[in-house]
Amino acid sequence: MVRSQRPWYRSARSLRRQQGRCRNRAGGVRTISELGTRATTASKDRLDSSPASTAGTDLTEAPPAVALRLSATSSRARTANRLLPAFGVWFFRGLLVIPFVFMAPEVISLVLGRPGSVANVSASTADVLGTSSFLLFVMMLSVTPVHTMTGWRWHLILRRDYGVAMFFTAGTDLTLAALTTGDTFPGGPLARIAGHTFLVFGTLSVFLLIPLTLTANRPAMHWLGGHWKSVQRLTYVLWVTILIHLAFLFGLSSFFLDALAVSTPLALMRVPAVRRWWRAARKARAQRVVRFGAAVVLIGLFSVGYTQLVHELATKGSAAFVQRPPSD
Ligand code: HEM
Repeated sequence: MVRSQRPWYRSARSLRRQQGRCRNRAGGVRTISELGTRATTASKDRLDSSPASTAGTDLTEAPPAVALRLSATSSRARTANRLLPAFGVWFFRGLLVIPFVFMAPEVISLVLGRPGSVANVSASTADVLGTSSFLLFVMMLSVTPVHTMTGWRWHLILRRDYGVAMFFTAGTDLTLAALTTGDTFPGGPLARIAGHTFLVFGTLSVFLLIPLTLTANRPAMHWLGGHWKSVQRLTYVLWVTILIHLAFLFGLSSFFLDALAVSTPLALMRVPAVRRWWRAARKARAQRVVRFGAAVVLIGLFSVGYTQLVHELATKGSAAFVQRPPSD
């Protein structure tokens, strides 16, 4: 088969023109890849509904009562197929408010100028918003490996949502650090965000999120054309700067090891050869035992680090919520 030489973004654009502007099941505008899938599925549907493919199913010849029952069952299945992904997407979107809920009481006290509020925010911001930002980053990075492993598409929209949410949590972390952490880092706002090497890498990570967030939309995608992917590759630079931030803070212990535990499976699943092999094996329904074993190891390693991070967020977040952050 001769492969089209047209750039991916042009083909997607023409696809979109052919199909009109559509909305996806979760209510958002479809991503480029979703549009591609839609076109393939549509042509498959056409083939499936051709007389040749329905021959032998006897559906058209079934008595009216049976045909009616069958069509009711399939319409129920279609509704469930539509509702479950929409529920999943909104469930995962709902989680995005958690960091802000945890920090809200302390920030409200800060705005109202209550005594002790500056010290409270200073003690909580890096713990709650730093951990949340990292968890959001990890969730964002998980979208593609989950697609490679399972073939699901319903969750692809979450990649952008989690990236944008991370920008807001990390941006708030930087702002609150600049305003409140004078007790820990004396010398003015600049010293609070860049007075140590680990602070420089934290701040740099937030700045890297700016181009990533600004270009995480369809107009930017069309405007940048083939360069869009290069801009989005800044994600890998961000990954490194976050790991350096944590390495300087914690050395070869606790948080840094947890970060390595979650990062390793996510990085492995991005290796082009691994990705290609997994996708091909999944589509061919081959190598099931190997894939199952690999999935158990990778998900197990990921879970080790992830549960520690969630535990940390739950502990420090609930302490921040009741405005009693631990003084460390
Ligand atoms: C994308 C941005 C960032 C990410 C993903 C991130 C991630 C993290 C994580 C996971 C921790 C460990 C939290 C804990 O000990 O419970 C942490 C700690 C810390 N971060 Fe960040 N951070 C980011 C940006 C920043 C910025 C902008 C600053 C300040 C300018 C900063 C300052 C700190 C400090 C001081 C700690 C130590 C907190 C402590 O142990 O008490 N971080 N960061």
